[in-house]
Amino acid sequence: MLGATAAIFAPSIHALAQNTNISPDGFFELTAKKTTASLLGIDKLQTPVWGYNGTNPGPLIRVKQGETVKVRLINELDQATTIHWHGIRIDNKMDGVTGLTQAAVEPGESFDYEFIAPDAGTYWYHTHNRTWEQLARGLYGMLIVEEPDAPDYKEINLILDDWRLAQDGTIDEESLGELLDWAHDGRIGNILTANGQSKPEFEVKAGERLRLRIVNVANSLIMNLNIPNHDPWVIALDGHPIEPRKLQKEDLVLAPAQRIDLVIDANLQPGEVSPIEFVTRDKKITLATLKYNNEIIKQNTTTAPAALPISMPHNAFNLAAAKTVELNITGGAMGTMRQAMLGGKMLNWQELVKAKRVWAFNGIAGDMDKPLIRVKQGETVRIDMINDTAFPHAMHLHGTHFTVVGRNNKPIEQRVWRDTELIYPDEKLSFAFLADNLGKWIFHCHMIEHQAGGMMTWIEVV
Ligand code: C2O
Ligand code: CU
Repeated sequence: MLGATAAIFAPSIHALAQNTNISPDGFFELTAKKTTASLLGIDKLQTPVWGYNGTNPGPLIRVKQGETVKVRLINELDQATTIHWHGIRIDNKMDGVTGLTQAAVEPGESFDYEFIAPDAGTYWYHTHNRTWEQLARGLYGMLIVEEPDAPDYKEINLILDDWRLAQDGTIDEESLGELLDWAHDGRIGNILTANGQSKPEFEVKAGERLRLRIVNVANSLIMNLNIPNHDPWVIALDGHPIEPRKLQKEDLVLAPAQRIDLVIDANLQPGEVSPIEFVTRDKKITLATLKYNNEIIKQNTTTAPAALPISMPHNAFNLAAAKTVELNITGGAMGTMRQAMLGGKMLNWQELVKAKRVWAFNGIAGDMDKPLIRVKQGETVRIDMINDTAFPHAMHLHGTHFTVVGRNNKPIEQRVWRDTELIYPDEKLSFAFLADNLGKWIFHCHMIEHQAGGMMTWIEVV
């Protein structure tokens, strides 16, 4: 079964001419609707899911850096929805955040997203309304912004998800929104898919250079991956280029929403098969396999791949002059939180549990009436976080990439730009970023059940 490779050729905005999903006014139409997916294997039960244009994942959207993305979201669900373009340095109006940057798109309605994709890289798009339900049901896809002179590697894209299915193979709806998950580590699944499939195979040729783009789209699962028999290079994190270096084990711990771009030299022999694995403490689960066909295309290469060009403007980033704000993260099971503000009132733990707001930032359980901080365009912002909870969190900032500048009171000099980063229990972590993008930017935990349970705030750039 080589169906997975088909995902590489899924509709792209380039394919304007032949694409039936392009409206007369030039919008790529993404219709959110109910569909099915063969999550358990093609010969097994089709699981009812929600998808875009009838597929899970949604169509791959591929544009060139600097190109305008025009997407019309058509909502054929019976629930309101939006699309967020995760990681894109976007025009704030197009950010897709219900209640902050737009009203959710009601059933039967549509919304036109139109924005420039300023930076090349591996991104993704997903619903940003009732995300805890809509993401769990499958509303996401990959967004690739190509470098102006994209290196000529064979591409393999892996969109990794976990699903919680009931005995009969349908999505476990009974536990959707379950408070126990929200107060612990989120909705963790019982099956894993790559590109909406069970263990897809990717055909490769011995000797060729591959570019693997991996995104973790799970609601809350931190994925610990392994790519045996190969010696990959890391070339980008969360879509942002880094100086290419050999992959280290820690690189393959992907928090929800994180991406990694790898270059892999296909150095096995024709006919060999090698897995890409999900690793737990006691077992390895195959997510996908690289299947070598009979061709040999060139000599094995061992030289480092060229660094990808960086287009984000980091020159004006000035940590010494940063506006600093503290963010104290509390709540969850086994935590110390006794009370928090909600709707402008101080609630005790029992009341918070009843309201399903069991997490707080600076003692506020998800109220969005005031920003965490308001800064002027061009300022550098520093957020000093303390994770006073028993769980790790995947902190995600919209609209720009940040860099970790301190960990447990130690400064970090190396600049690695990401849009999502894990903060572990009891850890102190400092993010900093250049506030160069005007608007209201949500800052939340990408463990979606935690976000829904109160782990969200926003930053205003004026
Ligand atoms: Cu990918 Cu606000 O999220
Ligand atoms: Cu969290």
